[in-house]
Amino acid sequence: MEELVRLAKARGFVFPSAEIYGGFRSTYDYGPLGVLMERNVKDAWWREMVQLRQEVVGLDAAILSSPKIWEASGHLQNFTDPLVDCRTCKQRWRADQLPTDDDGQLVCPNCGGSDFTEARPFNLMFKTFVGPVEDEGAVAYLRPETAQGHFVNFANVLQTEHLRPPFGTAQIGKSFRNEITPGNFVFRTREFEQMELEYFVPPDEAPQWFDYWCNERLEWYARLGIPRDMIRLRPHEKEELSHYSVATADIEFAFPWGWGELEGIANRTDYDLKAHAAASGQTLEYFDPATGERYVPYVIEPAAGVARTMMAFLIAAYTVDEVAGEERTVLRLHPRIAPYQVAVLPLSKKDTLLPLSQEVLKLLQPVAMCDYDITRAIGRRYRRQDEIGTPLCVTIDFDSLDDKAVTIRDRDSTAQERVPIDRLVEAVTSRLAW
Ligand code: GAP
Repeated sequence: MEELVRLAKARGFVFPSAEIYGGFRSTYDYGPLGVLMERNVKDAWWREMVQLRQEVVGLDAAILSSPKIWEASGHLQNFTDPLVDCRTCKQRWRADQLPTDDDGQLVCPNCGGSDFTEARPFNLMFKTFVGPVEDEGAVAYLRPETAQGHFVNFANVLQTEHLRPPFGTAQIGKSFRNEITPGNFVFRTREFEQMELEYFVPPDEAPQWFDYWCNERLEWYARLGIPRDMIRLRPHEKEELSHYSVATADIEFAFPWGWGELEGIANRTDYDLKAHAAASGQTLEYFDPATGERYVPYVIEPAAGVARTMMAFLIAAYTVDEVAGEERTVLRLHPRIAPYQVAVLPLSKKDTLLPLSQEVLKLLQPVAMCDYDITRAIGRRYRRQDEIGTPLCVTIDFDSLDDKAVTIRDRDSTAQERVPIDRLVEAVTSRLAW
């Protein structure tokens, strides 16, 4: 884990936020490679959930939201964690995450003490004020989940799209939670991005769609390169269920510190739509013109976090192997997830190679995210590309000027193949298997 955090910073994936001021409370900034990878994670999710389906449409709701939404949804009352203070060292903890000793007593991970204050509910929502006056009438909340934006727009979507359950709305966006114990790098932060699908189904079909989505989502991670033995589905115990859920299963990943949640799949029933209908006085139901039937759909919700997914891909891909008797670090990332798909590398920075290298770069840029590197010896450049997970390197050498061909090097096998430039785009796209 330490090595990964080091690599993430050194290679420009993730930086501690406000580092020049000593950092700012478990917040992180994404660097040049981090934004590329983050975008690829979101694109891969969007492709799977929206592009390849005809019954799912997109949405992008506001982050700053009315207290009425959170009152109706139950978040103002129920979205709490149990907070305790250690009386010995004064550290604050989530009571449900503290270890216990042999007698079942909570133990402070900081000082080892067992003297805690009574657990009290702590609401995780960030409260702010809209406009110049900071009074109760100006209160707004930063959304703690994107989901409510789907529910309050249910009628709008039905009016504008010809959809019939089962259908879904998909959204990717920032959410905010005033977590008591953020940590484990970007695993638990106060500002994070979610990818959520709300899938509206006839109530009697909810159990079968719940199973369907558990399976679909597990397969998605596996297809993008997470080994099967590093992911599992863990159904929630009854006591763990959120206030809106009758069934939830987490997709968990084997993080270096143990199994941790990547994504939750919940059967939210008709809880949210009914709650918003009651609070707003609006009708939030589906009318089937074919049967004359009118009902409030149930909702199956696969909800994933961008940073956790990115972290899982990085951990699963991180490998140290040996090439020509030398140790190398390689990120065996799926081409769809890797920050760059191709690195264009002139063998030498001599002027004679650069015009052709630029031509090759321009040829590949429309089909792949390309890095272009003319610094250092070619072996060192290959190592750098391996370390950041670039699946293909295209090298332009002095022979290329005569034979109009370049060498493609494969990250995983390190095999090299000569390819004519006029067949390069085809050769690259077929290797990336998109
Ligand atoms: N709408 C349902 C919902 O928000 P959740 O399990 O609380 O469910 C869904 O969140 C996903 O969002 C989690 O599985 C996780 O990947 C991500 N997530 C939640 N809280 C997070 C945090 N504090 N930091 C980073 N990611 C978080």
